[in-house]
Amino acid sequence: MKNSYSICENLRHLRIINVVGARPNFMKMAPIIEAMNRHPERIQHLLVHTGQHYDEKMSQAFFNDLEMPKPDIDLEVGSGSHAEQTARIMVEFEKVCLKERPDLVIVVGDVNSTMACTITAKKLGIRVAHVEAGLRSRDMAMPEEINRLCTDVLCDYLFTTERFANENLRREGVPEDKIFFVGNVMIDTLLKHKEMAGRLDLMDRWGLEHGKYVTLTLHRPSNVDGRETLEGILQALTEIARDLPIVFPIHPRTRKMVEQFGLSPYLNNGNRVWGIWTTEPLGYLEFLHLNMNARMVLTDSGGLQEETTVLGVPCITLRENTERPITCEEGTNVIVGNRKESILAAARKVLHGGIARGRVPENWDGQAAERIVKILLSQK
Ligand code: UD1
Repeated sequence: MKNSYSICENLRHLRIINVVGARPNFMKMAPIIEAMNRHPERIQHLLVHTGQHYDEKMSQAFFNDLEMPKPDIDLEVGSGSHAEQTARIMVEFEKVCLKERPDLVIVVGDVNSTMACTITAKKLGIRVAHVEAGLRSRDMAMPEEINRLCTDVLCDYLFTTERFANENLRREGVPEDKIFFVGNVMIDTLLKHKEMAGRLDLMDRWGLEHGKYVTLTLHRPSNVDGRETLEGILQALTEIARDLPIVFPIHPRTRKMVEQFGLSPYLNNGNRVWGIWTTEPLGYLEFLHLNMNARMVLTDSGGLQEETTVLGVPCITLRENTERPITCEEGTNVIVGNRKESILAAARKVLHGGIARGRVPENWDGQAAERIVKILLSQK
């Protein structure tokens, strides 16, 4: 028979701190919060924003589009070197954990905030769950790979998006009972908002036609922090943009580097039917609207490889590797690196109809967040 203490324990809420920090975190956390809100009798949760991303267009715009609650706590750490940013997050997040004493911290993705909050919570003896665990590029030059490894080795719950990730974790010696293949929370958000995004009139306003333009994102240090590499990429893009205009919502880091290297003449010098056109970073719905109607997407982002797979839009990834192999095995993604000739060859292939439509990976069905919450409640 249970004693009164254990009855009280069972009735007590599970107190969770959800952490977001940078742009790609927001669409992953939104459905988790929504799923938690369906269990107010079991879960109390707080949202902490580290402030790693802080510009209106990199942060608040996503809260608006995704109808996310305002963060309960904003650590306002801002930009800095990796060490500075990580350290500031840890110092501030430790104060929050000591005050709130949560039962569990949930982190998503692979940004500095993900790793910093995991280390902080674990050192205070708080359980941590990682959503999007087990992805590996095997490229230690990527700061995200270091973040992923440090996070996963410490976490108590590892929620994965694809079976390759389960394999990676097993090979690293993670016990089977910590690994949960739940699907992809970012795709929960995409499926929920696809119809709404489809109704926007952005293409009309910008004079774009369905299937007759390309979208581009570019922000990885390996692509934008070296002049020669960045110029080679811009030259390839210029060639592609002779056939179809390229819409390029430019990341603050990339804008800074383009200006510093004197490469601005490559941009915004065409007309309505050709050229590379930069915009400010776009909100979630606007960018989804553009991607779902594009002829192809060129990117070095992680998440966009997954979104294009579900949208059935060809994706050319300007990186040497991917931590998301399912997008190549089953989706529409090809990895081409950042050399001018390979980017051009892949783009020409798509323009001539050469990349097959993929299929939607297992469990990318809009239910991932619900599965996560069910698992957490069953483990209490
Ligand atoms: C971060 C993530 C990366 C993710 C990307 C999405 C890490 C290590 N990197 O990279 O995984 O793909 O976010 O955008 O966590 N800046 C602004 N305004 C902002 C934020 C940044 O102007 O709101 C500028 C600052 O000059 C800053 C630079 O962008 O120094 C880089 O920002 P940072 O958060 O360090 O890395 P990202 O390149 O955005």
